[in-house]
Amino acid sequence: MTPRLPPPTELARRRVLVVGDAMLDRYWFGAVDRISPEAPVPVVRVTREEERLGGAANVAMNVKALGTRCTLLTVLGDDDAGQRLRVLLQQQGVDTVIGRDTQLRTVVKLRVIGRSQQLLRIDFENQPDHEVLNLMLADYARVLPEHDLVLMSDYGKGGLAHVARMIELARAAGKPVLVDPKGSDYSRYAGASAITPNRSELAQVVGAWSGEADLAARAEALRQQLGLQGLLVTRSEEGISLFDAQGHLRLPTAAREVYDVTGAGDTVIGVLAALLACGLPLREAAAWANRAAGIVVSRFGTAAVSHAELAAA
Ligand SMILES: Nc1ncnc2c1ncn2[C@@H]1O[C@H](COP(=O)(O)OP(=O)(O)OP(=O)(O)O)[C@@H](O)[C@H]1O
Ligand SMILES: [Mg+2]
Repeated sequence: MTPRLPPPTELARRRVLVVGDAMLDRYWFGAVDRISPEAPVPVVRVTREEERLGGAANVAMNVKALGTRCTLLTVLGDDDAGQRLRVLLQQQGVDTVIGRDTQLRTVVKLRVIGRSQQLLRIDFENQPDHEVLNLMLADYARVLPEHDLVLMSDYGKGGLAHVARMIELARAAGKPVLVDPKGSDYSRYAGASAITPNRSELAQVVGAWSGEADLAARAEALRQQLGLQGLLVTRSEEGISLFDAQGHLRLPTAAREVYDVTGAGDTVIGVLAALLACGLPLREAAAWANRAAGIVVSRFGTAAVSHAELAAA
């Protein structure tokens, strides 16, 4: 029997604080009619532009899509992309606490798509300023009490320089903490409630595994080392593996058709956060998060799942 999804009224009473690296996903669609006379590359005549929330901003949108109130705490540049992000977040009803870094170039991932095929991706980014990040830590401590759960969305862009201290503060306040991790040093995530690496992120930390038993042993060792309640591994077409005190829960993917997997991991952690904030057990929340991921992979670009869609899944 499928456990029930909390009703919208209950989700609307909770607040999730998302902290991390926000980015703008930009798409340029166009026609390819000829090869450039300047170099052996296609010329794309851009006919349409689209912008989506990416990284921590997409995670926040996924939390909000279920009806849960959400605040995004992040650093943005004083540029056009930063401004677009503010507007898109406002349209989605995500509250924001934004650190302004005049030297920062807001992270943008620009995809150039010709004849429905991605031809090129161009990334704009640099590291946020230390002073601004220190100020953000004070903002974090100020808004923390108004939230039920904290979600750290680490995309390795430097916005989570103070993640260890942030986890410490959340724990001291009795708030659950979820982390979507990056990099090879997970000691800074110690004490989180759960982390949600994908396969390659996990392999970077525990090494490649040779089979299910080996994976379980490595995952459990990491879980204990970091003092986590759960280690949730997103495994693309293999679904989700959740390691907790009861052992290994395997959830096969719920996807029926796979069109674009971009942002599926953001949906997993966003849904997990909204449901844990309502007090659902981790195993039940993981099962809903897996269903939600199965829905978003059938859509173009980063996307989010509504309460009604998830309830019907
Ligand atoms: N190719 C696929 N086939 C079926 N299900 C998929 C596929 N890719 C992703 N999923 C679903 O989405 C979930 C998350 O995907 P994945 O493990 O790729 O996360 P991720 O690498 O963090 O994604 P991203 O960083 O793009 O957000 C999986 O656990 C699974 O449920
Ligand atoms: Mg991911």
